[in-house]
Amino acid sequence: MAIIEFPEFAPLDDVIEPAWWSGVAPLDRAEFTIDAGDFAMDAADLTADSALARRMQEMFDRVGLVHLTNTGLTDLADMRTAAKFVIDQEMRYEGGANPRDRIAPNVYEVGAPLSAWLHYHHEMAYVGRSTRSIGFLASDVLPPPGPGDDGVSRGATFVSDSIGATDKLLSTEFGQKLKDLGVCYHRNLTDREAFAGSAEYGVYNHWQKSFDTDDPEIAASRARDQRLAVEWGPNRLLQTRYYCPAFEYFEHLDRNVLYCSLADHGMWFDTWPLVQHLPYHERPLHMTFGDDSEFSPDELQQWIDLYDDFGMPINWKQGDVAVICNYRWAHGRPGIDLAPGEARQLGVVLGEQYHRVGVRSDGW
Ligand SMILES: [Fe+2]
Repeated sequence: MAIIEFPEFAPLDDVIEPAWWSGVAPLDRAEFTIDAGDFAMDAADLTADSALARRMQEMFDRVGLVHLTNTGLTDLADMRTAAKFVIDQEMRYEGGANPRDRIAPNVYEVGAPLSAWLHYHHEMAYVGRSTRSIGFLASDVLPPPGPGDDGVSRGATFVSDSIGATDKLLSTEFGQKLKDLGVCYHRNLTDREAFAGSAEYGVYNHWQKSFDTDDPEIAASRARDQRLAVEWGPNRLLQTRYYCPAFEYFEHLDRNVLYCSLADHGMWFDTWPLVQHLPYHERPLHMTFGDDSEFSPDELQQWIDLYDDFGMPINWKQGDVAVICNYRWAHGRPGIDLAPGEARQLGVVLGEQYHRVGVRSDGW
């Protein structure tokens, strides 16, 4: 393997960091917040046909976002029950044959380092099988915003209105280009064995971990099951490509919506010491237009600004539950530095998984 010289910290001048929001929310807080203090929150309220469940379902249908706060819940299993009022209802609405078996039985961790910011994204947009919604459960939270925090807690998650973003994007030359060309998600998955005992330069995920197997043929076939094109590079590097529209047809609103962001662009690694020295196409993740051409610096900035313009924070109290429609809202967060003794952890519940259909010509 080649020995790579790299600076410990590259110059950060060109790094695009999201602003997250303009300071003005795209939707009034009252439109998506439910105060659980208005409900008894006893066993009778934590059922799928309770007044609380119906209130959450009605709100989700209307705006695609529910933030249940002041729950007094401390157990992740109870928070998950509340999230599932919306997720299960949505699955019935979509006509799922056996919805309870189709939801993941566990609560997952977010699975990304706290100190790295997570660009706005739609969950699982980079593979053919995506999810219709995502729930967050506030297990460990940071203090509420204080004076000078502009109403944003350090541990806030941000959501961005993808309907507003879609309409604005399509009014631009860049948006029309994205509509015409679509995008390609490129992934370079390294081989765990190739790095045994050595520093993990350029590593994000080994294919063994991503596809849960040590067998390269099984890994490749699991990648193809997700509609990824597969090629093997040097040192058993598994290179996958997924070509798809930047938009996705959303049945509930009978229209195409932006379903793609720069979260999977190689620029995400601009500040990662062991990866930042690599050109974009050699980084673990990268995105291009669907004709494999690169986005220009101006196009990158436009895309980041777009989601920022329609963004707003969700501040967490311990026990909060949020359910987010994965079509109508993108989500992300700034990097978080913890002070000694602090913890910030959200549990994740995925909604119904579905095979992406792409855009409909009558959905623009
Ligand atoms: Fe996410």
